[in-house]
Amino acid sequence: MRRPLVAGNWKMHGTRASVAELINGLREQVLSADVDVAVFPSCLHIVQVLDGLRGANVEVGAQDCAVDPMQGALTGEVAASQLQDAGCSLVLVGHSERRLLLGETDAEVVRKFAAVQSCGLIPLLCVGETLEQREAGKTLAVVGAQLASVIEALGIDVFVRAVVAYEPVWAIGSGLTASPEQAQEVHAAIRAQLAEQNVEVACAVRVLYGGSVKAANAVELFGMPDIDGGLVGGASLNADEFGAICRAAGS
Ligand code: 13P
Repeated sequence: MRRPLVAGNWKMHGTRASVAELINGLREQVLSADVDVAVFPSCLHIVQVLDGLRGANVEVGAQDCAVDPMQGALTGEVAASQLQDAGCSLVLVGHSERRLLLGETDAEVVRKFAAVQSCGLIPLLCVGETLEQREAGKTLAVVGAQLASVIEALGIDVFVRAVVAYEPVWAIGSGLTASPEQAQEVHAAIRAQLAEQNVEVACAVRVLYGGSVKAANAVELFGMPDIDGGLVGGASLNADEFGAICRAAGS
């Protein structure tokens, strides 16, 4: 059985004060023992969150890292080795906002994925199609190609220590959620593509859904057979709402 994971991506939000408030709110949540929970603050707030959530059974991750794993002369970037040193356990890789707004390529995503793993951290690989691609019937081809770039470059075994998140771009921050059936179709395709290489790896890897997840739609989404939790944006900035989403992933 796959253990559900609910991850909160705080994106470029937060001040020291609002982050402190969110930490306090998260500490008050009753979380299910059978669900893994993680939050991804901005890089600036990672240490504050690690300190604030110590002992709270919430993992802390980063939203991105440099393509090179080790520290060096690269102004403005943060290396996976530095994230590991700070105490992070996960790193988001290939979020659609980075792919589409910052021009991150599949090749860079692959390098970041490898950099994260080389430092002993878990990459959370984000894939997903735009509305235009969905309407053109290209969803499975687009998501398949994003996943294939990692499989082809790094092999299937890297997915033993990775998480995949399916985030349809049109559902992110839009209030439009993929229906449970729409999401399940893509999640099943992701797992089938991994299973072509290794059935055991495919069965074990967690595939999260992201895109306007809220407490009100989480139970239905997480009830689908290939949806193993969520990657939550906006709703993760409210501790009570995020806590309710985490509980929805429990048995
Ligand atoms: P929203 O939950 O705000 O739609 O964001 C989803 C997301 O992009 C998480 O990475």
